[in-house]
Amino acid sequence: MTSCAIQAQGLARRYGEVVAVDGLDLEIGEGEFFGLLGPNGSGKTTTIHMLATLVRPTAGSARVAGFDVGTDPVKARGQIGLVFQESALDRTLSVAENLRFAGMLYGLPKAEIERRAKALLDLFGIADKFHAPTAALSGGQRRALDIIRGVIHEPRVLFLDEPTIGLDIPVRRRIWRFIEGLRQRNRMTVLLTTHYLEEADACERVAFIRKGRLVTQGAPRSLVENLGRHTVEFESRDIDALLERARPTLGKGLKEGNTALFLHGHEDTAPLARLQDELGDLVTAMRVRRPNLNDVFLWVHAGADLPGGRP
Ligand SMILES: Nc1ncnc2c1ncn2[C@@H]1O[C@H](COP(=O)(O)OP(=O)(O)O)[C@@H](O)[C@H]1O
Ligand SMILES: [Mg+2]
Repeated sequence: MTSCAIQAQGLARRYGEVVAVDGLDLEIGEGEFFGLLGPNGSGKTTTIHMLATLVRPTAGSARVAGFDVGTDPVKARGQIGLVFQESALDRTLSVAENLRFAGMLYGLPKAEIERRAKALLDLFGIADKFHAPTAALSGGQRRALDIIRGVIHEPRVLFLDEPTIGLDIPVRRRIWRFIEGLRQRNRMTVLLTTHYLEEADACERVAFIRKGRLVTQGAPRSLVENLGRHTVEFESRDIDALLERARPTLGKGLKEGNTALFLHGHEDTAPLARLQDELGDLVTAMRVRRPNLNDVFLWVHAGADLPGGRP
């Protein structure tokens, strides 16, 4: 790996009795696109807050862009861009005013802010909105403006906490192309959290966390391949009954989803066809497909050991 943009050692944060983050080690390379994934409440936001110097760790340490977030927070902050779930924009201002205000906080000259703002708006294809009122933008455009606001000072490291939540799929895609363009232009490191696992496929590496601890990390493709060559999905209206009926035949490898059971494996799937009869009308549909990151997520969520083993 090239030199580290983000490095965390034993990073931890407690809130009273709650251990939000429980000794996290991370090494993220310069220019890397890294995804932090995990169920609600697993500590993703708290991790980003600590790395971004907004929350003090209760244990451990972290360096971002070469600066220790505990002892050098001001210098670290100058290298960091932040985009949170909640918009940081002032809706009563124009697009230009929002960006001017953000740039001034970083001490950028007015002409430079304007040059960067126009180039970034152009990258998203909304150069014509420079003078528009922020309130007149669409949801996707406002999200893009939030991101532009977060990178106007050309940070080395960009933190994105669920940046596309609530946006529909075409808009999400546009936002992703935009972020990818930014990353390649500036060789910026991007640390992302997302609920939409299909988005995390685009990450070079992802880490799954659960209860504030790292469960597994790696390239999405290799994590998925660890699960197996195929996934058999048994759909049912009564998962509990199906589980009871199928377990003797299919064993512990079965994983529960909300409306289906999953079986991951490398073996030939042809003999499984017989199962559909055996399981009778408890199974409303059975299909064989490639495993994906959602399947990895289910393993992590269930707290199971991954077939490929823990890191
Ligand atoms: N400011 C806070 N005060 C008390 N508890 C918190 C605070 N922030 C987060 N938590 C708790 O820490 C845990 C992790 O939360 P969070 O980092 O927001 O998870 P995620 O972003 O993965 O959903 C949760 O149990 C949450 O309730
Ligand atoms: Mg969160």
